Amino acid sequence: MSGHYLEVDKINVKYGDIQVLWDASFYADKGEIVALVGSNGAGKSTTVKAVSGLVKISSGSVVFDGQHLEGGNCRKFIDHGIILCPEGRQLFPNMTVYENLETGACSKEAEAKKKETIADIFKWFPKLEERKNQMAGTLSGGEQQMVAFSRSMMGLPKVLLMDEPSLGLAPNIVDDIFRIAKKIAKENGLTIIVVEQDVRKALKFADRGYVLENGVISISGTSDELMGNEEIKKAYLGF
Ligand SMILES: Nc1ncnc2c1ncn2[C@@H]1O[C@H](COP(=O)(O)OP(=O)(O)OP(=O)(O)O)[C@@H](O)[C@H]1O
Ligand SMILES: [Mg+2]
Repeated sequence: MSGHYLEVDKINVKYGDIQVLWDASFYADKGEIVALVGSNGAGKSTTVKAVSGLVKISSGSVVFDGQHLEGGNCRKFIDHGIILCPEGRQLFPNMTVYENLETGACSKEAEAKKKETIADIFKWFPKLEERKNQMAGTLSGGEQQMVAFSRSMMGLPKVLLMDEPSLGLAPNIVDDIFRIAKKIAKENGLTIIVVEQDVRKALKFADRGYVLENGVISISGTSDELMGNEEIKKAYLGF
């Protein structure tokens, strides 16, 4: 036992007969931001789904704060504060911003602290307070990502898994969300695992990272190490 806050050890995932994740191991400490990068179809979403209990692993373990969570359903992961902000945002388009946020208060504790959390969110994103009665489906992409991130925060995560938050968004909006997420991580000890195809942005945001290639973790290191890695430069950073 090496005793990291979140410890994922040799997980394997199959969809039917097709295996897409092979002995993937990684860890994250409290307050740490960890990037998981790789190209289309590498298995990034599968990995964060496995770590949040949304897909079953065929073997391996997910240990959070000393407790084995593998084999449990997603409710168990949520109750331990492991919360996924899914790829594509998945908001309820015909509900207001406020109502979407309310759906994120998915545990008793989160429900009890709902008002306080919403007040925090409106401090982080004043724009969401202005738009609180607007239907989520009519928001811009960037505003929708703010709501998606905030809805996850409504669940009072200890580990937040963000799947492709930058997808289709203007760089300055992504920078805003990453800046706020990083502040929360460093001030409140929130652990973040971020999946990105935008490797440069992800490594700027994260402390450490892992590269996933065809379902296998091939390279890992600090963000600085990965930024300087020749293979990564060639394959993902375009120089
Ligand atoms: N529910 C599923 N049933 C069958 N195969 C699936 C399922 N979900 C994903 N896959 C397959 O698993 C592989 C990994 O998919 P995954 O979504 O994890 O990749 P990804 O790295 O997140 O890709 P992207 O960058 O495009 O989001 C792909 O080949 C995909 O087709
Ligand atoms: Mg994906």
